[in-house]
Amino acid sequence: MNQLGVGIAITGSGSATPAVVLDNHQLSQMVETSDEWITTRTGIQQRHLADSQGSVTALAVEASVGAIAMAGITPKDLDLIILATSTPDDLFGTATQIQALLGASRAVAFDMTAACSGFVFGLVTAAQFIRTGAYKTVLLIGADILSRWVDWSDRGTCILFGDGAGAVVMQASESDRLLGFELRSDGTQSKCLQLPYKAQNKEIVNGISTAQGTYHPITMNGKEVYKFAVQKVPEVIEKALFQANITAEQVDWLLLHQANQRILDAVAERLTIPKHKVLSNLARHGNTSAASIPLVLDEGVRLGKIQPGDVIAASGFGAGLTWGAAIFQWGM
Ligand code: COA
Repeated sequence: MNQLGVGIAITGSGSATPAVVLDNHQLSQMVETSDEWITTRTGIQQRHLADSQGSVTALAVEASVGAIAMAGITPKDLDLIILATSTPDDLFGTATQIQALLGASRAVAFDMTAACSGFVFGLVTAAQFIRTGAYKTVLLIGADILSRWVDWSDRGTCILFGDGAGAVVMQASESDRLLGFELRSDGTQSKCLQLPYKAQNKEIVNGISTAQGTYHPITMNGKEVYKFAVQKVPEVIEKALFQANITAEQVDWLLLHQANQRILDAVAERLTIPKHKVLSNLARHGNTSAASIPLVLDEGVRLGKIQPGDVIAASGFGAGLTWGAAIFQWGM
């Protein structure tokens, strides 16, 4: 609770994935790989992919409708909508399209980008608006269609990613359920994982050129990203737990960005959090970037695993490089 006496509660969740599924066997017809290799190295067995009819907007709206219903509010109650995404339908912003489709006419809406850390960064951003008393009810969405930007001939990356959306409703509350957080960035390592804009000079008038191009498919140094994750994620969770003044033993659920099962296992081991407290949907969804944490959260809630009051340690990490952790209790 802050000096203004405003706490934060996360009161609803929702999620959505495209209907089309690509399994490892189908992938092995596209690149030189195998179900056995992908499963043992990553834990991923299949991923959902959006086709040209699909959109970040549509997935985000479906996830949001679920979160709004669970929270027992209406779209008109929303003061703010934050869309965490690296793959907007429109570079000028996609959150406003979601606002319009939801009919959230009172809400201000904007996009933010922090790659696979987007949901945790968004959670902390939304919390600042609530803590200051500026807004009472916020919809936070993590949604990505990375399949648009994957090089489907690169077996080192195309096996990892899938598409999806997850959303939560955050509300001002008398009891504060956001117990602690820690965020980090290190741009010196940005080349480890990139989706860069590349351009060529195009002369538009004598002597004046502009940079015309497009974004190029994802490039990644898998080994470096792996090392970064298993070293930095436990550290940032420990710092957030310290802020929250709780111990790792008090954590009911570890909700890590779903990047690789080996990363999930290594982080849990470092924190001495037992496997049964680690939620994973990697086998079914792969790495859905900003969507992965709210997606696994929503599944845990709807399966009745995550109960009101349960302590959740969530951590996102990825391109930027960015990483962060938030400790919160589920529900009012
Ligand atoms: N199928 C079969 N073989 C593959 C392969 C695939 N899909 N991808 C790579 N290989 C090969 C490599 O070419 C290499 O062969 P070589 O020894 O003949 O050169 C061998 O497998 C080992 O490659 P390496 O890159 O060392 O594998 P790895 O054990 O590091 O696993 C990742 C690769 C990508 C699964 C792993 O590094 C990883 O998950 N990193 C983190 C990535 C991540 O999470 N990114 C998103 C963060 S948000």
